[in-house]
Amino acid sequence: MELVPALLKPTDHVLDIGTGGGEKLITLAGSFGSAIGVDADPAMIETARDNVSSELADTIEFTVGDANNLPFDDATFDAVLNRHSVVNPAETVRVLRPGGLFINQNVGPMNLQNLIDPWRHMGSMDLQDPRELADEFVALGCEIEEFREYNVDYAFLDEASLLFQIKAMPMPVPVVAERDAELIAGLMESTRGADGAFHSNEHRFLTVVKKPV
Ligand SMILES: C[S@@+](CC[C@H](N)C(=O)[O-])C[C@H]1O[C@@H](n2cnc3c(N)ncnc32)[C@H](O)[C@@H]1O
Repeated sequence: MELVPALLKPTDHVLDIGTGGGEKLITLAGSFGSAIGVDADPAMIETARDNVSSELADTIEFTVGDANNLPFDDATFDAVLNRHSVVNPAETVRVLRPGGLFINQNVGPMNLQNLIDPWRHMGSMDLQDPRELADEFVALGCEIEEFREYNVDYAFLDEASLLFQIKAMPMPVPVVAERDAELIAGLMESTRGADGAFHSNEHRFLTVVKKPV
């Protein structure tokens, strides 16, 4: 999201889809004129409203809504953001004004690969391919302005953090500590680096889409 401020204008009206607690959107205040964060989970919207300072309350608002059926009129926003949430290309393009930008950061299919590997034989994972998603925007008449892929080292500093991660993240099957004790011990062994941390990878895509004028 470091690139995002450079893509926004101080007058822009911005939508952040799947805003969660709104933390990222709030850090971008100053790069846009006004913004709405939308999330399907009412508890997240409550948190986001608590997170926004009173100085920003007139600039950023939060509302419950589904990425697949956005509660906004056509061509409402100058820019739409999405970081790690559900992307519905047709809905996203509908709410963008002509010439508006959609800026999407999503998790790549190879993310945290060595953490998933020990459980891969137990089930399959249905991950959205960012390249196919970009193709869907092209099919809607949009241009892809940027398409960047990142695959960098990611370290967990202690066993508790690694364990928390494999229990919280999407896996072929949910990790059960007692049943999977051997797999977990093997994972700790195979991912521990000389620095004592547990190493994996972070696979991300950044896509910037422009709606035709
Ligand atoms: C991984 S979190 C990302 C939160 C935030 N964008 C960030 O980067 O910190 C994904 C968010 O998407 C929301 N979400 C999931 N499905 C959604 C949908 N269909 N429409 C809107 N929000 C959705 C979840 O409630 C969650 O808050």
